[in-house]
Amino acid sequence: MFIGLDLGTSGLKGVLMTETQEVVAEATAPLSVQRPQEGWSEQSPADWIAAAETVFDRLAAQGLGQVRGLGLSGQMHGATLLDRADEVLRPCILWNDTRSHAEAAELDGDPMFRRLSGNIVFPGFTAPKLMWVARHEPALRARVARVLLPKDYLRLWLTGEHVAEMSDAAGTAWLDTGARDWSDDLLAATGLDRSAMPRLVEGSQVSGVLRPALAARWGLPKGVVVAGGGGDNAASGVGVGVVRAGEAFVSLGTSGVLFAANDGYQPDPATAVHTFCHALPDTWHQMGVILAATDALNWYARLVGADAAALTGELGALQAPGKTVFLPYLGGERTPLNSASVRGAFAGLEHATDRTAATRAVLEGVTYALRDCRDALAATGTRIGQLLAVGGGSRSDYWLRLIATALDVPVALPVAGDFGGAFGAARLALMAATGAGAEIATQPRIARVVEPDPRLTAAFDAGHARFRAAQTALKDLT
Ligand code: XUL
Repeated sequence: MFIGLDLGTSGLKGVLMTETQEVVAEATAPLSVQRPQEGWSEQSPADWIAAAETVFDRLAAQGLGQVRGLGLSGQMHGATLLDRADEVLRPCILWNDTRSHAEAAELDGDPMFRRLSGNIVFPGFTAPKLMWVARHEPALRARVARVLLPKDYLRLWLTGEHVAEMSDAAGTAWLDTGARDWSDDLLAATGLDRSAMPRLVEGSQVSGVLRPALAARWGLPKGVVVAGGGGDNAASGVGVGVVRAGEAFVSLGTSGVLFAANDGYQPDPATAVHTFCHALPDTWHQMGVILAATDALNWYARLVGADAAALTGELGALQAPGKTVFLPYLGGERTPLNSASVRGAFAGLEHATDRTAATRAVLEGVTYALRDCRDALAATGTRIGQLLAVGGGSRSDYWLRLIATALDVPVALPVAGDFGGAFGAARLALMAATGAGAEIATQPRIARVVEPDPRLTAAFDAGHARFRAAQTALKDLT
């Protein structure tokens, strides 16, 4: 048996998987985000541990005596700052925190960053956060001995070891992404060196062994290996079998991601596409990332006092877009805008705009933002022939039909089950424990393929053009 843990933004999920990759138990524990100031987004690492304990308590009810390996997946880019004694110095600054936009722009102004890391230095990435802390919390910065990504802090608790893996490390702006190694030059440019960085392994390699005290607490055998795992997107790629060039998925989670696996390393930072190592050796991937996908829908649901699933459930058949345009930039945007200051908007409201029309506009806005990501990926030469849909938003049939039609690409929905980060992490654990490779990362059985509706293609092309016009008109309205 294998355990996969996915440290998400809104919750920590665990799955228990058999040797034949059947999920026999699942458990989740919720997490909340603190936003003490505009643009800030933080979580307490102690809450992650508490959530992991809850998940282990629940999984342990199934009996964990046969577990051989554990894998980790997690929200990317967060800066978990530790002192010499591994004590947490401040709340973790998360992936969707944009406070370090000035520092990000400064680092990005040094061509070395794009050249070596293969990416724009986005405000959400880890390196500019350290620069922000140096500038605004200098006494605290002086005590930083080690920087860990969120799931790697969980790993420290699980194994006692400081280890990161390539896919998540590529989102720090400190990795030489082509060479799959920390860059001494990039670290030095932010006042750090390798001593502050965890050791690197591949996602499918062993990173350590579960601490005996934890094994005893939940009834696991001795010697359970902990795999490197992956950033949540790369781990989802492994979970859904998107590990070979030509394969792609769309993830509708808090953030929205259009993810394509690549044969080799093909960075193109100018497009604002992210080019990261995949969680398997010698593979890379590209993705367009939007900061608010279900986050935008959930924001709107709270605003109108309704449940998000109820809102999408009442939409009926796919309709051509109406007059209302929604820009989903609630906390800035990554691909393709790279702007921390851009904000969302409803435009084109009219008397006839009722709740369902506004819900459709929200889903359309997020979908057009994903279409922008599709265009950015196409500009690098990456073409997408079919998308697998993962994440909570993929439960909305309307949204799947909308994505298929507005992006003009068939969308495949896996059979019921969660093939996301936690499952991918369990697969990486299986690889680490048995020496298996990419061949076990097969694609799930497909429940149905949602085809684009050609009768509505022109209407959504026009809708996207309106979205782009609104984007241009409102980009300076911060
Ligand atoms: C990817 C990104 C998000 C987080 C969400 O670059 O920032 O997808 O990983 O968990």
